[in-house]
Amino acid sequence: MTEGPRFPASFEWGCATAAFQIEGGASEGGKLPSIWDDFCAQPGRIKDGSDGLVACDHYHRFPDDIALMADLGFRHYRFSIAWTRVITEDGRANPQGLDFYRRLLTALHERGITPNATLFHWDLPAHLKGGWLRRETAYRFADYAALVADELGDLLPRVATLNEPWCSAFLGHDLGVFAPGVQDRPSALLAAHHLMLAHGLGLQAWRSVRRDTQLGIVLNPELCDAASDAPADVAAARLAELERNDVFLNPLFNREWPAEMLEQMGPLAGQRLPGDTAICAQPLDFIGLNYYTRSIAQAPVSDAELARGYRFVPPDPQRPDLTDIGWEIYPQGLERVTRKLLAQWPLPPIWITENGAADNTPAVDGACDDQIRLAYLQSHLAQLAQMVASGIDIRGYYVWSLLDNFEWAQGYSQRFGVVHVDYATQQRTPKASAHWLQHFISSPQPT
Ligand code: FCB
Repeated sequence: MTEGPRFPASFEWGCATAAFQIEGGASEGGKLPSIWDDFCAQPGRIKDGSDGLVACDHYHRFPDDIALMADLGFRHYRFSIAWTRVITEDGRANPQGLDFYRRLLTALHERGITPNATLFHWDLPAHLKGGWLRRETAYRFADYAALVADELGDLLPRVATLNEPWCSAFLGHDLGVFAPGVQDRPSALLAAHHLMLAHGLGLQAWRSVRRDTQLGIVLNPELCDAASDAPADVAAARLAELERNDVFLNPLFNREWPAEMLEQMGPLAGQRLPGDTAICAQPLDFIGLNYYTRSIAQAPVSDAELARGYRFVPPDPQRPDLTDIGWEIYPQGLERVTRKLLAQWPLPPIWITENGAADNTPAVDGACDDQIRLAYLQSHLAQLAQMVASGIDIRGYYVWSLLDNFEWAQGYSQRFGVVHVDYATQQRTPKASAHWLQHFISSPQPT
């Protein structure tokens, strides 16, 4: 493409993945089970009954995957470290797991690709009993952060503590569709609190080991539009945004949770200790925002919805403007949600750490013509270019994802990669969107 969105020459272009979704090698090198290994083993949890035991076999194929990434022109790579690979059950370093990431990081460095590592992308060690419902887990996270800082920090210029803690907390403990599969509203809020506490303790722990790393967190704030002007729908949309955004952003800036959220926690709110919010509010060098779609909120009906204060209305599956997973394609939402956040919180520099589309077009004869994804990326990058031009401090963009991979509760049924993966042969095939991005990234941008 010659004509298209224009970005500053310094803008960073990358792709993103997460350990559990691509690595496989599930019991190799002393890796311990995570709550996602356990969850996948429970019948009915994953749409296609699959698991992450092999996934994209990236554990063995990472040199080729990094070469492919470099060929496609990506100079930045966001990935996650598996907690379960690098630390033993009694809290000691696991040299084999650390060696895997050291080899991975060295290979990236050799190809001129700058890593951005996430410490926790949902694969909590299964042996941490009680998981995010226990305060103790936040302290174990801090130990893990210090260990990674010590062992791998020399190769990690930029690190995020958590990826999308909303998903771990609410999909994992309220809706119960993600590991560990709990369905209890107050528990979800307690998990959210412990996750943010882990973030704060993790940053303190990292900085006690090294001070030359850019540190941040990756959130998935949501734009929740009301289904109508009816006051009940407007109130529902507001509650949905409090849960999605304020619960995670307030602590980062030393602000207490909204009263509505504390009320929904009931007696469990007593487990939030004085001083916790201040721990969460460590200085941030950056914030990562993940954006896919928006939500439409309506007044609650069922008991579970009443406990939340809202219900989401999914878009009519017949609509043409949906990706294959059924999410509305709404590029304006990227700008609307970012501006909303900036109006409410003093955000540090922003990276768009995930954006992409499910497009399940098959690969045929060595090619994959993923037109839904291509149009999605083009419209979102056009929106992003406008945002950057208007002065919003966004420094880079990572497409989700490099490879088709294990899409959590959807198993392998939804494909988000710009590179197609044939799971039977592990053959990688760059899709039309990858070729377009390759050309786009390499075309000259203004200085
Ligand atoms: C995000 C997750 C990522 C991937 C995309 C589609 O919520 O962070 O792992 O599953 O959605």
